[in-house]
Amino acid sequence: MGMLKPRHVVVTFFSGAKGGTGKSTLAANLAILLSQSLKTNVLLIDLGIDSSQTSSRILGIADRPGVFDYLVGSVGDLNQLVIRSSYLPSVFVVPPGNVRSYQMTVGNNEAFDRWVYLVNYLVMTTDSQLVLIDLPANNTMPVVIPPLLIAHIINVVLEYAAYSEYVLREVDNAYILPMLTRLRYRKIINIVLNKAMGQDNIGGRIREFAHNGDVFVIPMSHSPLPNHRPKAGCPLRIKGLTRSLQEGPQ
Ligand SMILES: Nc1ncnc2c1ncn2[C@@H]1O[C@H](COP(=O)(O)OP(=O)(O)OP(=O)(O)O)[C@@H](O)[C@H]1O
Ligand SMILES: [Mg+2]
Repeated sequence: MGMLKPRHVVVTFFSGAKGGTGKSTLAANLAILLSQSLKTNVLLIDLGIDSSQTSSRILGIADRPGVFDYLVGSVGDLNQLVIRSSYLPSVFVVPPGNVRSYQMTVGNNEAFDRWVYLVNYLVMTTDSQLVLIDLPANNTMPVVIPPLLIAHIINVVLEYAAYSEYVLREVDNAYILPMLTRLRYRKIINIVLNKAMGQDNIGGRIREFAHNGDVFVIPMSHSPLPNHRPKAGCPLRIKGLTRSLQEGPQ
């Protein structure tokens, strides 16, 4: 490679304002699965601010300084924020940290600059080809917008339910279309319908929202999904998603 910086792909998990759809569960499981199947280091950045059950915890990492401590300026050394997962050492995890969202007083531009620096720095130091960003169900500007802007792939994760069509239309109008059409970003937008029970009769109706991407239906898992440990069974169910992720940006 010499002086060439290796190419990396940024994937975010997003659900607009709708909480509990499975973003963190998918992000944690995909971090392990993709690191194994692609044989590459993976950087998981957990932005689950205010959440007690989020992707870094699923990977066994809790109560450490994290990304928001850096964004508000209380931790300056990025190396302090990243830790290898004890489940798989090729997965590097940055937890959200100790800041609450009401303490996120930093301005949008400053937060964006720090955010971009953080991702670039950690991609280099961890030698990761893949960056997964777990977003909270929260649409405060400095938290959600920068990860959406820098993403090559956005997985919009919603529940497999009739109402998701309406949530999806809102997310498409408010976030996705402005980036794709107004700002002319080239991105893959996948729609992930999680916790499906029974037959697929919704997936087809929402195809129009999967820009350059696909619709993935993930069944409700009856064995409880990972609480504090990624489950071996779960990744198999998201194989289709993996395939799309492996293709990377177009
Ligand atoms: N396919 C599935 N089958 C059954 N349960 C699931 C599935 N996916 C996620 N869950 C469960 O749903 C709950 C919410 O999942 P998770 O925390 O991943 O959602 P989230 O979108 O990250 O939530 P938040 O918006 O709060 O960040 C968890 O209890 C998780 O175990
Ligand atoms: Mg979450």
